[in-house]
Amino acid sequence: MALRLRYPQLRYPHLRRAVLAVATAAALVTGVLVAVGTAEAATSQPCDIYAAGGTPCVAAHSTTRALYGSYNGALYQVRRSSDNTTRDVGVLSAGGYANAATQDSFCAGTTCVITIVYDQSGRNNRLTQAPPGGFSGPAAGGYDNLANATAAPIAVGGHKAYGVFVAPGIGYRNNSTNGVAKGDQPEGMYAVFDGAHYNGGCCFDYGNAETNSRDNGNGTMEAIYFGNSKSWGYGSGNGPWVMADLENGLFSGVNQHLNANDPTVNYRFLTAIIKGEPNHWAIRGGNGQSGGLSTFYNGVRPNVAGYNPMKKEGAIILGIGGDNSVSAAGTFYEGVLTSGYPSDATENSVQANITAAGYSQSGSTGGGTLTPGSTISLRATTACCTTRYITHSGSSVLTSVITSASAATDKSNASWIVRNGLANSSCVSFESRNTSGSYLRHQNFQLFLHANDGTALFASDATFCPQGGQNGQGNSFASANFPTRYLRHYNNNLYIASNGGSNAFDATAFWPDDVSWVVSTPWAP
Ligand code: AHR
Repeated sequence: MALRLRYPQLRYPHLRRAVLAVATAAALVTGVLVAVGTAEAATSQPCDIYAAGGTPCVAAHSTTRALYGSYNGALYQVRRSSDNTTRDVGVLSAGGYANAATQDSFCAGTTCVITIVYDQSGRNNRLTQAPPGGFSGPAAGGYDNLANATAAPIAVGGHKAYGVFVAPGIGYRNNSTNGVAKGDQPEGMYAVFDGAHYNGGCCFDYGNAETNSRDNGNGTMEAIYFGNSKSWGYGSGNGPWVMADLENGLFSGVNQHLNANDPTVNYRFLTAIIKGEPNHWAIRGGNGQSGGLSTFYNGVRPNVAGYNPMKKEGAIILGIGGDNSVSAAGTFYEGVLTSGYPSDATENSVQANITAAGYSQSGSTGGGTLTPGSTISLRATTACCTTRYITHSGSSVLTSVITSASAATDKSNASWIVRNGLANSSCVSFESRNTSGSYLRHQNFQLFLHANDGTALFASDATFCPQGGQNGQGNSFASANFPTRYLRHYNNNLYIASNGGSNAFDATAFWPDDVSWVVSTPWAP
């Protein structure tokens, strides 16, 4: 019965809407993702190392692992859209890795956002949805958006985990902290970021900021910045750079603009460090997967008025500027703020701990054969449409029935080269097999095939983050810059859709099927 009702919609799209109006029995098939392995034994973790060095953590945030050898609590909290309930994600064992299976089962068949990144230091310096300040965010009441919980999948120590994927508009903050440096007090901080996910917007920061979310003048913040903004300071090469956001300035060294010793760094997993004490500060960084740290700056405060002494206020931000500027992009995996100015030796030990943790991209594409460089076809899984593939006709993108008898051009139009995501290498982009340099991208929420114009907007519009398919088949693909929207077919056209949203193509009926795609052998290899 259901199949009879659905097949005609292919030829008579309006019938689909009629069918949807009465279709109340579409089954939600859970897309439970891979289970994690066994837990690691607890060891000395970054905050144990900082404490041993006399500069204890006063805030410790991570969605991937415990930052104390004894930590056995929640790492973060997710909220799912299906019923607005929340679930804490903890560790596999004390001092161990995130238990991503908790998130995967809780969020199966729906979407989740990260609502809280807990503070492991015991000071309750947790990060939550950032409120409006000098600038307003795009969410209700001027708050910033929350990150899609599945947009930054990785593996750490062989265990599946998720980072905090910050698209412009997303931000976290705590304006009422405990124990974080104020005034000119010494502090240190490190974070592990995705060095391939950044932009030039203001400002992908993690660290100390103003407690009223406003620009309170030079020296009122001290945070790690990562990105390729040249609005204030910059380093050598084209960026991205690790810099210090000290308010009204991103500093790459003592000078206001160029400091050539601050190199372009884009390790997939990047360790970034800023530390400051009276008239002294430093920038350090390294590859979070191997090797040690380099010092990019170590000296006096900038030669610009207002930064000595500092006037730190002690709020904590993630993904935004001190005044709630919300134009930046980046991905965060872990980070801490310390009390006291850590020694280089202490930080070197922390770096050894990070590289030993074993960050890797493996598993990040959610299964299937989404291997960058390979050519694939993408088949729909809705019962109406299992012979239909994502294809293009000029710049239009649609699904078409493709069979072995199809014309060579049609087969070629339905074949796509998987690329590392143009805006996020954890994700993917799809380059046309027969129109080199052109990619699937969304514009006004509809999919098109357009030539890559090299802009950050295009990169974001053309990047999709794979997850397990929401109906248990293949993959679902979240938009990188609208992470609660998924690649969906509707009346044979392609959209990035939001389950239950206001557009016709956001319809809840057939949702899990319409957003699930099987990665197939390419029609045109
Ligand atoms: O310092 C750079 C930025 O300038 C800060 O993050 C923001 O508060 C201000 O707009």
